Amino acid sequence: MKEILEELENRRDAARMGGGQRRIDAQHARGKLTARERIELLLDEESFEEFDMFVTHRCTDFGMEANRPAGDGVVTGWGTINGRMVYVFSQDFTVFGGSLSETHAQKICKVMDMAVQNGAPVIGINDSGGARIQEGVASLAGYAEVFQRNIMASGVVPQISVIMGPCAGGAVYSPAMTDFIFMVKDSSYMFVTGPDVVKTVTNEVVSAEELGGAGTHTKKSSVADAAFEDDVEALAEVRRMVDFLPPNNRSGVPERPFFDDPGRIEPSLDTLVPANPNTPYDMKELILKVADEGDFYEIQAEFAQNILTGFIRLEGRTVGVVANQPMVLAGCLDIDSSRKAARFVRFCDAFEIPILTFVDVPGFLPGTAQEYGGVIKHGAKLLFAYGEATVPKVTVITRKAYGGAYDVMSSKHLRGDINYAWPSAEIAVMGAKGAVEILYRSELGDAEKIAARTAEYEARFANPFVAAERGFIDDVIMPHSTRKRVCRAFASLRGKSLENPWKKHDNIPL
Ligand code: HXC
Repeated sequence: MKEILEELENRRDAARMGGGQRRIDAQHARGKLTARERIELLLDEESFEEFDMFVTHRCTDFGMEANRPAGDGVVTGWGTINGRMVYVFSQDFTVFGGSLSETHAQKICKVMDMAVQNGAPVIGINDSGGARIQEGVASLAGYAEVFQRNIMASGVVPQISVIMGPCAGGAVYSPAMTDFIFMVKDSSYMFVTGPDVVKTVTNEVVSAEELGGAGTHTKKSSVADAAFEDDVEALAEVRRMVDFLPPNNRSGVPERPFFDDPGRIEPSLDTLVPANPNTPYDMKELILKVADEGDFYEIQAEFAQNILTGFIRLEGRTVGVVANQPMVLAGCLDIDSSRKAARFVRFCDAFEIPILTFVDVPGFLPGTAQEYGGVIKHGAKLLFAYGEATVPKVTVITRKAYGGAYDVMSSKHLRGDINYAWPSAEIAVMGAKGAVEILYRSELGDAEKIAARTAEYEARFANPFVAAERGFIDDVIMPHSTRKRVCRAFASLRGKSLENPWKKHDNIPL
C-alpha cells in the first residue's frame, strides 16, 4: 500500500511540473504565471478539485510516444470564487506550447459538459500555440468539439475567456464565442493569421502586438472586453466580475449583503445636468452615485465610449447598466456603440439580469461612414435587443431623448417597464434648432422670428411633460432621488413574468 501511495504522490508531482523547470522558468521570465499558479489565484484558496491529471496524449507520430507528459498541456477541474462554483481549464504553455491535442480537447470538453449539466460558469485560461501540429486533423477535430460546446453552452452558463499568451488561427474562435474576453497587456495576442502570413498575403508589416495585442482588441476591434497589466490583476478582475454573474440562466441574479441605504439621497445629482444643453457632463457619475457602494464593473470601457455598459448592484442584486455618455460624441448612437450595447443587453437578458438604462442621446451619428458601414442594421441590433428582452427594464431619461434613439433606448414602446425622466429631460423628434430650420425654412433670414420659433418649440417639447401626459413616462423624478426610485422600481419588478411567442430562434439583424 505504501508504495502505491508513493507512486500516486510521485505521479502527481510529475504532473505538477508540466513541461519541466526550464520551461517554467522561461514562462516566469516572460512575466507570465504557470497554468497552475493562475488557477490558484483565480479560485478560493484550497478550493480547486482537479480532473484528468493523468491523461496523456495518444499520438505516435514524430517520436511523440516517447514524450507523454501527464495532463497533456491543460489543467482542468472546478473550484469556487467567493464560495460560488465555477469550472475552469488552464492551458499549460510549458507542455508542447499549450497546444491542443485530441486528449487536451477532451479534457476541456469534459469540464464544459459538466458546467452545463451542473449550471456553473466556465472560465478558460488560454495560453497556447494552437492546434498540436503533430496530431493533424485529430487536433482540428478537438477544436471543433470545443466550438460546438461553446455554442451549446451560450446563454446557458456564462463563459469567460482569459487570454494569457498566444491565441492564433482557428483557436481564436472558441474565445470569440464566449461571453467575455479578457486580455493581458504585452503578453497576450489573438489573430486569425499572424504577422508573417499577413506580410506574405497583403504586404503589410505589422507586429504581433499591433495586429492582435490587448490594445488592438479593446480599443479597435472590440473583440476583447478589458485588458489588464499582468496575470495577477487580470485574475483578480475576473474574480470581481464573476461575483456579479448568475451561475446559469435559470438561477436568477446572485444576492450579496449590501451596506448602502437604498433610499440614499444624492443632492449633487440635481446639478449634474448643465444649464446649456450642449455642455457635456459625465454620465459615469450618475451610475456611481446610484450603484450600491459606488461599485461599477465596466465592460468594454475603451471601446465606443459614447455608450457605457457594465454591472452594478442595487440592494445587493446585480443589474446591467447601459448609459449614453454625453462626454463622447455627445452620447450619440453609432455603429460601434449600438453593437456594444446590443451584445450587453442580450447577455443580460439571457441570464435574467435586469437592465437599467440612462438616456441622454441626441440621435444617431450622421454621415457616409456610418451609412456605408451599415448603421441601419447595427442600430437595429440594439433596438431588437431591447425589444426582445423580457427582463425587468427601468429607464431614466436625464436630458436628450431625440428621434429614433428615443425609441431605441429602452422606451416604453419597447416594453420598458418603468420609465422615468428628470425635469431636465427633452423628449422630441429632434433638437429645437434642427426642428425650426426644417419647419420654418422660409423664415431663416429673419433672426428674430427664428429665435421666437425656437423658443416656442423649446417651450413645447424641451421638457418631459408631453411624454408624461401620454403615459410614455411613468413619472418625472427629482435627480437626487434617482437611487431610491430606481431601487424601488426594480424591487417592484421582482415577480415580473413575460414570455415571447414560441419560435425556433429569432433573426436579429447580424
Ligand atoms: C506543437 C508546439 C506548437 C504547436 C508551439 N509548440 N506551438 N507544439 N504544436 N502548435 C511547442 C514548440 O515546439 C516548443 O517546444 C514550445 O511549444 C514553445 O514554443 P516556442 O516556439 O519555443 O515558443 P515561442 O517562441 O514563445 O513561440 C510561441 C508561438 C510559436 C508563437 C505559439 O510556437 C508558434 O508560432 N507556434 C505555432 C503556431 C501555429 O501555427 N499553430 C497552429 C495554428 S493553426 P519545446 O519542446 O521547444 O519547448 C490552428 C488551427 C486551429 O491552431 C484550428 C481550429 C479550427
